[in-house]
Amino acid sequence: MVEFTLPKNSVLTEGKTFKAPKGATNIRRFEVYRWDPDSGKNPRIDAYEVDLDDCGPMLLDAILKIKNEIDSTVSFRRSCREGVCGSCAMTINGKNTLACIKAIKDYEGTIKIFPLPHMSVIKDLVVDMENFFAQYASIKPWIETQTPAPSDRERLQSKEDRAKLDGLYECVLCACCSTSCPSYWWNSDRYLGPAILLQAYRWLVDSRDENTGERLDELEDPFKLYRCHTIMNCTDTCPKGLNPAKAIAETKKLLIQRQ
Ligand code: SF4
Ligand code: SF4
Ligand code: FES
Repeated sequence: MVEFTLPKNSVLTEGKTFKAPKGATNIRRFEVYRWDPDSGKNPRIDAYEVDLDDCGPMLLDAILKIKNEIDSTVSFRRSCREGVCGSCAMTINGKNTLACIKAIKDYEGTIKIFPLPHMSVIKDLVVDMENFFAQYASIKPWIETQTPAPSDRERLQSKEDRAKLDGLYECVLCACCSTSCPSYWWNSDRYLGPAILLQAYRWLVDSRDENTGERLDELEDPFKLYRCHTIMNCTDTCPKGLNPAKAIAETKKLLIQRQ
């Protein structure tokens, strides 16, 4: 479980409660973190009573219903609604996850929705991902080659080599893992964090890539890689069931093997 950190010098206040429509019998209460840093006001928790008999099954359906029918001022990111764009990452009842692939029925009682922890809040559930994506760009997430491509076909890969990417290519860069990692909370300026390290490993083990040595040189750094202390929050929280901690351990092994 991860705790949300309040912005400096602020207190979390109680906000408004939006009551369910008259006659609704299947009501669920959603408590949502609300903060507009430009307003100069403290963050607050607004409560929304949602009629589940008139709502889709997933948590994102409830948040969309709140936005569309109850309070249009709530801000959040979403796009695909299928767990593939990674944009609806948020903290739900203390765990980072993707709101679109979590069913409301799997939660009991009041559902508490916060932005990803230890990230700068832009507004409400929208956090600043700039550093995260700059770190992603830094690992060069594309195939790098030194030999010319065959003239008559693409660079091919055996089935066995392709299978090495399973458990890696599925990452949707939602940042649920990185923002659950205490090492990333304290050192996100220099530690790459589990999501980016899983992505770095994805390119290290791609048989078509020809810059493995250079990639390993880049990672061999006391902060970029070695801030991972195997706390395992990352693997526990990944909504896609991936194992970033294992990818980090495998990267450390590759570094030892080449010595
Ligand atoms: S295993 Fe490493 S990357 Fe994952 S949460 Fe722990 S310290 Fe962070
Ligand atoms: S490893 Fe999982 S939690 Fe981390 S960014 Fe990828 S999909 Fe999200
Ligand atoms: S909306 Fe795309 S992952 Fe949830």
